[in-house]
Amino acid sequence: MKKHFKITALLMVILLMATVLFGCAQKETSQNNQSQQQTNQQNNNSNQPVDTVEAIKKAGKLVVGTSADYPPFEFHDISSGKDVIAGFDIDLAEAIAKELGVELEIKDMSFDTIISAVLTKKVDMGIAGFTITEERKKSVNFSIPYIQGGQQIITYKGSGITGKDDLKGKTVGVQLGTTGEEIAKKIEGAKLKQFDKVDTAVLDLLNKKVDAVIVDFAVAKAYASQNSDKLELVGNLLDDAAKAVVLRKEDEKLLEVVNKVITDLKNSGELDKMVQKWFVEFKPKQ
Ligand code: ARG
Repeated sequence: MKKHFKITALLMVILLMATVLFGCAQKETSQNNQSQQQTNQQNNNSNQPVDTVEAIKKAGKLVVGTSADYPPFEFHDISSGKDVIAGFDIDLAEAIAKELGVELEIKDMSFDTIISAVLTKKVDMGIAGFTITEERKKSVNFSIPYIQGGQQIITYKGSGITGKDDLKGKTVGVQLGTTGEEIAKKIEGAKLKQFDKVDTAVLDLLNKKVDAVIVDFAVAKAYASQNSDKLELVGNLLDDAAKAVVLRKEDEKLLEVVNKVITDLKNSGELDKMVQKWFVEFKPKQ
């Protein structure tokens, strides 16, 4: 009996010591990992700044993030029988890819994930009718503006809504993470319904599940002309803001390339032609 007790006690002591030792060892490795990570980061920051322009050229392609639910900025064009993403922003993206001498790859995602896709390097830049805002400027860089536009209320015919003041107690569809959402939040008494994609918001509007949707004027016009018997634009513009390309703060060289492309397009009259093509002549398919 006594012997048994001694053995058990001894075993317990051994177990305790082993746990303590093992614990220490683990802690040490994780500390090692941490300091290794820190040195890696330091190396990346100081010794080898990432040259995104070179990286893009080496990869042979420019990857642009967009939310293709926003005609005439960007949308799925199925008129040729094939599904291609087209629009004003895509023509701009093409011009940037051309300047860099690479192919263009468009990644379609929900609008509220584009900035994080830029920051985590899933895409090289975001082009999606981005309004320049102070809030966004805290985390990303904007190119020089390439177009101006304002937010617009679109409603179904017969809703009785004639402008912002009629939105009290009404359900307003907005796209997550947009300036339209920010504006709608400030409309007194309006109930918000958030959507990942604008086309689903418009579908809800057509089914009268929401009373109004707030999007960029040109987009409201495009959706309304697709459903001219059912939808209409009402009230004044809710803001007037410049749109620009979104880039990582550290990618200053790439920012210069984008700004050069926009300046060249402006000076050559090409930008006016793009505006004419997409914001004047473009007729979305019925
Ligand atoms: N201009 C608005 C903003 O910056 C909406 C942009 C939405 N773009 C889109 N492709 N869905 O927030």
